[in-house]
Amino acid sequence: MSSDWVDIGSADAIEDSGSLSADIDGLALLVVRCGSELYAIEDRCTHDGEPLEGAEIESCQIICPRHGAHFCVRTGEALTPPAYEPLRTFKVKVEDGRILVENPV
Ligand code: FES
Repeated sequence: MSSDWVDIGSADAIEDSGSLSADIDGLALLVVRCGSELYAIEDRCTHDGEPLEGAEIESCQIICPRHGAHFCVRTGEALTPPAYEPLRTFKVKVEDGRILVENPV
């Protein structure tokens, strides 16, 4: 596994409780802002495998737009049914105003 970091955009592009989608070698992910922190999660609900893009984000939880499962954006943990498996999470950092995600591929 590579440990390279991938630049996916400007940190200023994400407002609080907002998100930015990215694709790293075919893996769709979302970077979500929760207060001053950014978190990276796979853009795929563990209930049906479809994208979470467009989901509402409240209190550091992302809410699946289809059946309403809540996930913790910090840990990926599934907090409410009908999802039970956690979202995959990725390391993210900001350098010189750019969002860098650890290459998961
Ligand atoms: S698809 Fe996400 S909760 Fe059902």
